[in-house]
Amino acid sequence: MIEFLGDWKRTGYCGDLTAADIGSSVTLMGWAHRRRDHGGLIFIDLRDREGLAQIVFDPEVSKETHGKAEDVRSEFVLAVKGKVIPRPEGTVNPNLKTGAVEIVVSECKILNPSKTLPFTLDEYVDVAENLRLKYRYLDLRRPQLQESIILRSRVAQTTRKYLSDNGFLEIETPFLTKSTPEGARDFLVPSRINKGQFYALPQSPQIFKQILMISGYDRYFQVVRCFRDEDLRADRQPEFTQIDCEMSFIDRDDIIKMMEGLMATIFREAKGVEIELPVPRMTYQEAIRRFGVDNPDLRFGLELVELTDVVKGSGFKVFADVAASGGIIKGLNAKKCATFSRKEIDDLTEFVKIYGAKGLAYVKIENGEWHSPIAKFFTADEIAAMNKAYGAEEGDLLLFVADKPKVVNDSLGKLRNLLAKNLGLLDKNNFVFVWITDFPLLEWDEDEKRWAAVHHPFTAPMDEDVDYVESDPGRCRAKAYDLVLNGNEIGGGSIRIHQEVIQSLMFKMLGHSEEDKREKFGFLLDALEYGTPPHGGIAFGLDRLVMLLTGSDSIRDVIAFPKTQKGTCLMSEAPSTVDDKQLRELGIKTLAK
Ligand code: AMO
Ligand code: AMP
Repeated sequence: MIEFLGDWKRTGYCGDLTAADIGSSVTLMGWAHRRRDHGGLIFIDLRDREGLAQIVFDPEVSKETHGKAEDVRSEFVLAVKGKVIPRPEGTVNPNLKTGAVEIVVSECKILNPSKTLPFTLDEYVDVAENLRLKYRYLDLRRPQLQESIILRSRVAQTTRKYLSDNGFLEIETPFLTKSTPEGARDFLVPSRINKGQFYALPQSPQIFKQILMISGYDRYFQVVRCFRDEDLRADRQPEFTQIDCEMSFIDRDDIIKMMEGLMATIFREAKGVEIELPVPRMTYQEAIRRFGVDNPDLRFGLELVELTDVVKGSGFKVFADVAASGGIIKGLNAKKCATFSRKEIDDLTEFVKIYGAKGLAYVKIENGEWHSPIAKFFTADEIAAMNKAYGAEEGDLLLFVADKPKVVNDSLGKLRNLLAKNLGLLDKNNFVFVWITDFPLLEWDEDEKRWAAVHHPFTAPMDEDVDYVESDPGRCRAKAYDLVLNGNEIGGGSIRIHQEVIQSLMFKMLGHSEEDKREKFGFLLDALEYGTPPHGGIAFGLDRLVMLLTGSDSIRDVIAFPKTQKGTCLMSEAPSTVDDKQLRELGIKTLAK
């Protein structure tokens, strides 16, 4: 029998009921989460966005309603009228907000039945993610996922309020646009009206927000979707959301201060956590030296140790040769890990090979001595010097990598994170921020045989390094900064180039021909010549931020409709082929099936 809502009006959310509601009559609506039959009584946990309420069907109260409850299965949609009463002694559930009360039902409507779910909402952990993504509408009913999506909404609202209160204007920028280079491939959209021509979906609103500064809007923000066709990982989606900001007549410190305030407000409002300000800063060079990476996780130690000078003259040929050919030797002290088995050390060795290392030399400190296949190559003085550098103590495991600097830093930096994870040093409720500053402006791209922008081509060189842009590009530092939280880059930005000559030079350094430069960025170069104020900004990855706030392992868990690793949506089955008619209209012929 189909039942309709009729004139029933909900009095509130299931999950909001507390002892204060005892004695009141309520009308609740939601999903049957669980049903338990206890002799004559039937208990149903009725669920809505805010939580669960226990509703009780007693045949003594209403035979008809009790009869209906017998038909109810998981995920049926119900509306009930009843009275809030205290739960009998001994049945109070202190883990549930509504755990002190239950509702004795006097009337009930089954508004809609449900097929049996392909997985139960309680046991999702064992369900393959692909199945959950196919039935995303069901997965999204899970209380845990709902909490994350609700928290995400709160973060967005808090952001809008903080930035508006600080004079930022929310201004939309186009999605159908021209490529903005952020280092990834563009998603292209064919134009029907201009056959053979394409829009690019924005990798970020970078150029538009700069133009808004040129136009005098002074402070801009947007909570905005960005599109990047790049290899996907747990912290990357092809479309993701930025909190995008830009300010005029400011310098780096002004932006940093404003954005620290934003982060502190978000953490206070959304999580009840106080962040200590100012957030510490570290130069890029220091981050690489001490942690091997530009997004160091500062929740734990395990710092890298520089050993090149100690071992360059040693009898261990691997190290001596690397040092002689301009490479470096660094290590890390895995505290109290001398108990690692051969197999465990082999696994670590395989791990560093992913990052190009040729091996992972190791030393166990046992009974006050070095136990290691390489111990025999070193003098007592060299061993003493290394022990000192490592801060070696009984029971420690010393690890070494010798190679080109990039390989050494990459492999040890990633190894450091892996060890911390394996050793249980990562506390998800400890939020440690750091600003990384003084990034290089340009880096040499070996594949393309040209210089590439480390942040993006609009980033300004440091005033004192301007002369190096052309004369010694690798030495030039940028006015760029990243905000790193627990080893994740959650935001990045820079002070921009606001003079046409420098911007033109930058494009030249990046290998753009005069023609190419005009074709791609002519409008920006023109605009820069009409009175551009000094300006700069930043963008935060909202998905990453919410992932960390909710302790999720993947940004897929904080995006309502995410894509798989292969860029597909398993629910809607995008991407898909299109009709020949549509292609003809667009003037497109496809090669691939
Ligand atoms: P950037 O490229 O550093 O800077 O991006 C800013 C932040 O966006 C997040 N992010 C991503 N999150 C999920 N999936 C992705 N594929 C992805 N790519 C980036 C990161 C990153 O820190 N226009 C500049 C900002 C500026 O200079 O103002 C920009 O886009 O958390
Ligand atoms: P080998 O002399 O090749 O047998 O290596 C001796 C030890 O040094 C092994 O534990 C290797 O894993 C390690 N090793 C080899 N090459 C390197 C390197 N480039 N950096 C660090 N350790 C290395």
